[in-house]
Amino acid sequence: MSEDPKRTDTPESPDEMSRRNFFIKMGVGSVAVAALGTTVFGYQYLSPNVLYEPSPIVDAGKPDHYPPDSVTLDPQTAIYVVRTAEGFFALSAICTHLGCLTAYKPELGIIACPCHGSKFNKDGVKIEGPAPRPLPWLRMWLSEDGNLMVDRSNAIAIKQLVRV
Ligand code: FES
Repeated sequence: MSEDPKRTDTPESPDEMSRRNFFIKMGVGSVAVAALGTTVFGYQYLSPNVLYEPSPIVDAGKPDHYPPDSVTLDPQTAIYVVRTAEGFFALSAICTHLGCLTAYKPELGIIACPCHGSKFNKDGVKIEGPAPRPLPWLRMWLSEDGNLMVDRSNAIAIKQLVRV
């Protein structure tokens, strides 16, 4: 039997040891990266997809903030607070045609939609245009500390005035 002249039974040289250590570290590093990725994607997968929306309840402030016989638009919440001699009520400012934000025209005394020309009176009743329905009345009430409160998610079928 002849021995391989290149083969040595001597312990590995320091260069070969460092190469072995390099590959061990590469393997451990790859496993650590894969485990971290699995943990991150697993956490995202198991976390609920929750959409946080603002509350539909709007504090419209004190009644005396609104001048007599006025229509006041709050563009942030898309509601009109209408003050008449009989009391207060709230209308949605979202056009019932395709959802544009309407605007009150005090010189004409109407609510107009800038998108396709629908017009409504101060009660939200359609005067002209493609809107299929009147502007919805929204539930309004007085809070315990005397503020006007509006529930944007709650359209009411019957006109209800808040008297103060
Ligand atoms: S969105 Fe108002 S008329 Fe079309």
